[in-house]
Amino acid sequence: MAHRVGIIGGDGIGPEVVGVALKVVRAAGVELDQVDYDLGGRRYLATGEVLPDSVLDELRGLDAILLGAVGTPEVPPGVLERGLLLKMRFALDLYVNLRPFKAGPGRHNDGVDFLVVRENTEGTYAGEGGFLRQGTPHEIATQGSVNTRMGVERCVRFAFELARSRERKHLTLVHKTNVLTFAGDLWQRTFDDVARSFDDVGTAYNHVDAACIYFVHDPGRYDVIVTDNLFGDILTDLGGAIGGGIGRAASANLNPARTGPSLFEPVHGSAPDIAGTGQADPRAAVISAAMMCDFLGEGDAVARIQKALDTTDDVKGTTTQIGDAIAAAC
Ligand code: IPM
Ligand code: MN
Repeated sequence: MAHRVGIIGGDGIGPEVVGVALKVVRAAGVELDQVDYDLGGRRYLATGEVLPDSVLDELRGLDAILLGAVGTPEVPPGVLERGLLLKMRFALDLYVNLRPFKAGPGRHNDGVDFLVVRENTEGTYAGEGGFLRQGTPHEIATQGSVNTRMGVERCVRFAFELARSRERKHLTLVHKTNVLTFAGDLWQRTFDDVARSFDDVGTAYNHVDAACIYFVHDPGRYDVIVTDNLFGDILTDLGGAIGGGIGRAASANLNPARTGPSLFEPVHGSAPDIAGTGQADPRAAVISAAMMCDFLGEGDAVARIQKALDTTDDVKGTTTQIGDAIAAAC
């Protein structure tokens, strides 16, 4: 049966790379019932709307959402981030942000092959805080970090399950327990508790600053990493830089409980400077779409796309040319 997938092409290079991703998914034999949504900077500038509740309710009924990128230089920072991306993450309870990093054969950092499980609905992203005496010399701004036992535990449990399914079966907790002694303590205790049910999974702990050094100098030590929302945001950009570049950095915003659709998106932004020039690498969107196929139970298609990506790894050209090469190899 066809999967009902919402498509948010968005702005800049978003629609270009999503177009390629859809072509590849179909070439791999997956049937999609595609529903297009006009959301992002263009719509906001034209109508003032970011994500109307009626649209959000429609999204809830889908099997999955594939997003290109949103953002244009004219939209003030925060409008689309909080109003669209984070709103979907929170409202659809996409509590895991899964980001794989793998350097292709022969490329820089050949040993990179790990996944980051980023908690995606809590921490500093929860939006706790505010201003006091705003605009005065005595202004105070607070930005709290929300960490619930339930929220941390479900994320950590997902990471253990994932690590168990992999050959190396190893999970590293990354935090800053030496300074963030409240949140860090909850994460560490939860991690240790859950670990007791996974005695086949090896574990380690790294402070986030040390993890940055290891990412650059010894990334081969990692198999699966679990970390909080903000650390995960920063670490996964670094992961993109060491793992084949931002043109290959994919992500899955998952609702593992499957109470609604999950959302798949390349990590790169809308890159307005190269929009329409054909210079965008569609691979990050293709890998994100493959993660969507995986979540939808289309294992054969995932294998075909993976093989096609491997055999076309050194293909250069425009967005369309690279996409056609991948689709033809499926
Ligand atoms: C990401 C992005 C988002 C985040 C922004 C655009 C809200 O940087 O997906 O990593 O901070 O999570
Ligand atoms: Mn980010």
